[in-house]
Amino acid sequence: MYSGDIASVLITEQQIDEKVAELAKQVADDYPDKGDRHDLVLVGVLKGAVMFMTDFARALPRPVQLEFMAVSSYGSATSSSGVVRILKDLDRDIAGRDVLIIEDIIDSGLTLSWLLKNLASRGPASLEVCTLLRKPDAVKVEVPVKYVGFEIPNEFVVGYGLDYAERYRDLPYIGTLNPKVYT
Ligand code: PRP
Ligand code: MN
Ligand code: MG
Repeated sequence: MYSGDIASVLITEQQIDEKVAELAKQVADDYPDKGDRHDLVLVGVLKGAVMFMTDFARALPRPVQLEFMAVSSYGSATSSSGVVRILKDLDRDIAGRDVLIIEDIIDSGLTLSWLLKNLASRGPASLEVCTLLRKPDAVKVEVPVKYVGFEIPNEFVVGYGLDYAERYRDLPYIGTLNPKVYT
C-alpha cells in the first residue's frame, strides 16, 4: 500500500498499542472512576485524532463521552499558517465537566493553543491535553500538555490518522513521508 511513498516506519503498530495502553493507565489513575456518572469528556480533534481517540477510549478503564471538534489550521500544506477555523463545534455544553483534548500531533502548537483558550472560556471543571505525538523542534507557542505519547523529530509524518493532502490516514503505523511526494 502507498508503495514508495513511505520513507521509513517511525513508530510501529505495536509501539502505538503499547503507548496507548500506557497513556490510558496514566489517565485512568488521574481520573479515577468513582461510579458517580461523572464521565470524562474526550474532545477529539478531527480528523487527525480519530484513530488515537477510538483506540484510547477503548483502552481507558473508565467511562468517557466522545465529543469532536473540527478545526482547520493549514489544509493540505506541510507547515502551519496559524489560521484556525471552526469547521464543526462540540455538540454539548462542557461547563463543569472534566475535559481532555485528544490530539494526534502537536507541531507548531498553534491549533492547540487556540483550542485551549476557546474551550477554557466555556467553563470546564478541568481541561487537559493528551497528544500521541509532539515535535519539540517545531514549537512556536508553548502549550501546557499533560500527556505526551512520543516526542518525534521535525520530519513530516503520516499514518494512524495523520495525513498529507488527506491521504495515508489509514496506515496502521506512523511513517515518514518520502519527500518526492510533496516536492
Ligand atoms: C494537524 C494535526 C493537528 C495540527 C497540529 O491537523 O492533526 O491537529 O495539524 O499542527 P500545529 O501544532 O502546527 O497547529 P490538520 O490541520 O492537518 O487537520 P487534520 O487533523 O484534519 O489533518
Ligand atoms: Mn488535526
Ligand atoms: Mg492534516
